Amino acid sequence: MKRTIYNLSENGKIAVLTAYDYPTAKLLDGAGVDIILVGDSLGNVILGHKDTLPVTMDDMLRHTKAAARGVSDALLVADMPFMSYQVCVRDAVFNAGRLVKEGGANAVKLEGGAEICEQIRAVTAAGIPVMGHIGLTPQSVNALGGYKIQGKTPEAAKRLIETAKEVEAAGGFSIVLECVPAELAAEITATVSVPTIGIGAGDGCSGQVLVFHDLVGLSEKPPKFAKQYFNAREAFTKAVGEYISDVKKC
Ligand code: KIV
Repeated sequence: MKRTIYNLSENGKIAVLTAYDYPTAKLLDGAGVDIILVGDSLGNVILGHKDTLPVTMDDMLRHTKAAARGVSDALLVADMPFMSYQVCVRDAVFNAGRLVKEGGANAVKLEGGAEICEQIRAVTAAGIPVMGHIGLTPQSVNALGGYKIQGKTPEAAKRLIETAKEVEAAGGFSIVLECVPAELAAEITATVSVPTIGIGAGDGCSGQVLVFHDLVGLSEKPPKFAKQYFNAREAFTKAVGEYISDVKKC
């Protein structure tokens, strides 16, 4: 069944994984993942940058197009990269439009709260569903002072609940909650009426997202909360070693 923003919760909790290319997207789609996210984590995971800040619209378009070719049923969400939507509403609508029209995405994801609600409203009004992303927002790593858990004090927790409500009111069809305490994530989930997608935010969200390379053991520095389900690095290294020795033998 084709996933849309309206039937995401029909099969219980929402399973979200990242994919940045055709074969991975095809594999995840065939396995039945609900949402495939072309995350700007491709900056770290695929392009070898130290953070997501250098990722460009050209990078996002190239990888979204590749992933889109492998997707039949999952909802395909593309991240809007750093500075493609923060400067003004016009940029946000224009660049979101490119990710849908040229990239083949079904929806886009924007990081931030009240400061980008005008952009969320305008992109949504243009007919493009927006996934929000609050808590630890990696594009603001310099402003946040590092990759730290957010919403730890009572004041910060209260602010984050307000932020979730603002993103929902602006039109967000779902909200990623990254690195927030589990109880706070559960409270936000109970407060808003759109699905929440947690990453490092406990089990109380409407769904979970993981970076595929963390899941299969291909990331260099996976976050502590990411459960590794397979050791692809070991398996691939063994396979390559066997190939090398076969070549050397003949
Ligand atoms: O870029 C990404 O992969 C993300 C997820 C980790 C939520 O934003």
